[in-house]
This record gives sequence, structure tokens and C-alpha cells, in this order.
Amino acid sequence: MVNNDFRQHDYDAGNPGLFARIADDIQDKGYSINPFALPLALGTCLLEQINTMGDDEFEHGRIGREQLLMKNQFVRKNEICWITNESEAGKDWLQWTSEMQTFLNRRLLLGLFSFESHFSHYAVGDFYKRHVDAHKGDANRVLSILVYLNPDWLAESEGELVLYKDDIDQEGIKIIPGFGTVVVFLSEDFPHEVLVTQRDRYAIAGWFRVNSSVLGRIDPPT
Ligand code: OGA
Ligand code: MN
Repeated sequence: MVNNDFRQHDYDAGNPGLFARIADDIQDKGYSINPFALPLALGTCLLEQINTMGDDEFEHGRIGREQLLMKNQFVRKNEICWITNESEAGKDWLQWTSEMQTFLNRRLLLGLFSFESHFSHYAVGDFYKRHVDAHKGDANRVLSILVYLNPDWLAESEGELVLYKDDIDQEGIKIIPGFGTVVVFLSEDFPHEVLVTQRDRYAIAGWFRVNSSVLGRIDPPT
């Protein structure tokens, strides 16, 4: 059963101060790592959604399957499914991230304008090599958020996120993709990678964007 009680109150109340902590961290160091931080009812709802999705609802990323297999499998091997308002879990997730967006805009004056996100599934052996989510000059993706939905993750399952502090950092910070961990960072500034996973690994990856309108036309989320 999905428990929707948390919808009635301010989401931040489920985890007092989470949004404020994220804002402070972003201001101080540009990234924020929060284990067990996702409101439990929201996490449960998202996990149920994943459990009811067939593997065929996941697909390879923005580039075509063939192209991906030929050209890109050395960079990225995982499958994704974009999140929309069409499911209850999707609605709740988008509501929560929209509250976070409003909070961060008030606190940090980031001018975040839109949000896009997808579920990711990494099967055993999958990975995502070191990359950045946005390139300087493109603007657009400002803040990345990752949320992990894997109960009882063990160290031997590997599949850690490694967040590097800058382009030359080779050591990074390793983050276990355990249920409810919320990671937020400035999209341009932090290269990161997903180490080869030894277990099915589920995550949500999302991006808060600024409006990069060209000639007065609004650029909608892709
Ligand atoms: C991404 C990404 C990391 C993860 O989708 O851009 O970096 O831990 N994902 O799934
Ligand atoms: Mn990324």
C-alpha cells in the first residue's frame, strides 16, 4: 500500500532541515551528501513504482540504442526511464523536487527554472564512467540530484558513486547507493562516475535547469 500521508504537509517536515542543509552545503562546498534523507513515504512509493515496472520500460539514454552500443558502451552502460506526472510516485517525486527548487531559489538565488529526471537501472556489470552533467558555457543544467533506492546495499555489491572535487581530483569521495541517500551537486563543477555494480542498482538522476531562452523562446525541458 502506498501511504500518501506525507503529501499533506511540507515535505521538509519529514526530514527537518534537509533542504536547508543542502542549501548550506551547496553554498559552502558545491555538493551535499545526505544518507537516509529521502522522506520514507516518498522513497517507499518510488521503490514500489520501480518494482512494478517491467524491464522493457527502461531504455538506453538519449542516443539511439545501436549508436550507444557501438560508440558509447565504454562510457555508459545503464538503462533509464523518464519520470512524469502520470504515476502517483512520479507526481510525489516531482512535487518534492519542486519544493526543493523553490527553497533553493529563495535561499541561493539560483534562478532554477525547470526540472527533468529519470529512473536509472544498472544491471550487474553496468557502470557510468567519469563525466560531468553540464559543460561550461552550455549553462542549462545547474544542479544535479541523485537519489538511491536500494535497500540493504552491501559494500561487496560495489556500484558506488564517486564524486570528484574538480577536474584533477583522482581520489574522489565514494558514496554507497543505499536506500534514501540524496546527493546534490553543481552540475558543471563535479566530475563523477558509477563503479561497476555487482547487483541490480536503482537510482533517480535529476537536473534543475535555468531557462536558456534563445530569441525570446522558452527552452522546454527535453
Ligand atoms: C547520471 C549519473 C549517477 C548514479 O545519470 O548522470 O551520473 O549514481 N548517475 O546513478
Ligand atoms: Mn552524471
